[in-house]
Amino acid sequence: MSLPDTASANAAQIDYWNTAVGQTWVEHQAQLDRLIAPLGAEAMRVLAPTAGERILDVGCGCGETTLELAARVGPGGGVVGVDISEPMLAVARARDLPVNAVEPQFRNSDAQVADLGEAAFDAIFSRFGVMFFSDPAAAFANLHRAVRPGGRLAFVCWRPYAENLWMRAPMDAAQPFLPPMPASDPLAPGPFAFADPLRVRSILEGAGFSDVTLDPFDTLIGGSSVAETLRLNFRVGPLGSALRTAPHLAARVSQALEALLESYDTPQGVMMPACVWIVQARR
Ligand SMILES: C[S@@+](CC[C@H](N)C(=O)[O-])C[C@H]1O[C@@H](n2cnc3c(N)ncnc32)[C@H](O)[C@@H]1O
Repeated sequence: MSLPDTASANAAQIDYWNTAVGQTWVEHQAQLDRLIAPLGAEAMRVLAPTAGERILDVGCGCGETTLELAARVGPGGGVVGVDISEPMLAVARARDLPVNAVEPQFRNSDAQVADLGEAAFDAIFSRFGVMFFSDPAAAFANLHRAVRPGGRLAFVCWRPYAENLWMRAPMDAAQPFLPPMPASDPLAPGPFAFADPLRVRSILEGAGFSDVTLDPFDTLIGGSSVAETLRLNFRVGPLGSALRTAPHLAARVSQALEALLESYDTPQGVMMPACVWIVQARR
């Protein structure tokens, strides 16, 4: 399948998720799935998909949650995963189907603008796939059209960076060894773009959704060894971005970061605090 139109409003994100970052998600798929599994599980729990439903997974990436939805709705249901990252979709398409699951469709489409059908789904789900739209109002209006009247929306997104120690503490430990970083725009497309609950509510209500709720959910995440966690930290988040432009600094950062990660090491691997919003709404 061809790549989405790169002249689109989300061209920068399409490039981002089809190059180095998409490749990182492909290479670290199992570790990333393990890291964010408890957070996606909470969004899945509140969505409560049932047999026979038609469900859209937005920003489905390497397909972990799409496959779970496919098992939940079973052979009589329907599941579509949409994403803009061809390398991640290739992983998703190659994964084994769980038993008694419907075969999901994986589409390379920009959820902000793609024709997803009118009232084509009973519910929409996303695990960290809805914070990257250049125009969130337009994107959620598009998603609103795609879900049937009375249908459900449930997704998980990050609360502020400052409160997400699993990402912030490694960056704080690395900072003394890195050049000063420009301040980032908190509303720009990116993992923390939906941290402000008032903004999320206003986007969803503006798009026509009702019964909007945002529930805080806090837990420890991780589950990998110190060495694996160190390697992942070098590839994702703000530290990953800093080291992509200055890879020679990795050696200097390594010692400080290893000491930090060791302080969070447990018999289950490195476990660090994470906090998210579990967002629900209805058409
Ligand atoms: C943080 S990853 C999460 C992937 C997956 N949901 C998971 O939990 O493993 C965000 C995903 O959103 C996708 N994405 C970003 N903007 C998108 C858009 N406009 N339409 C569809 N997918 C998008 C990215 O390609 C990426 O796969």
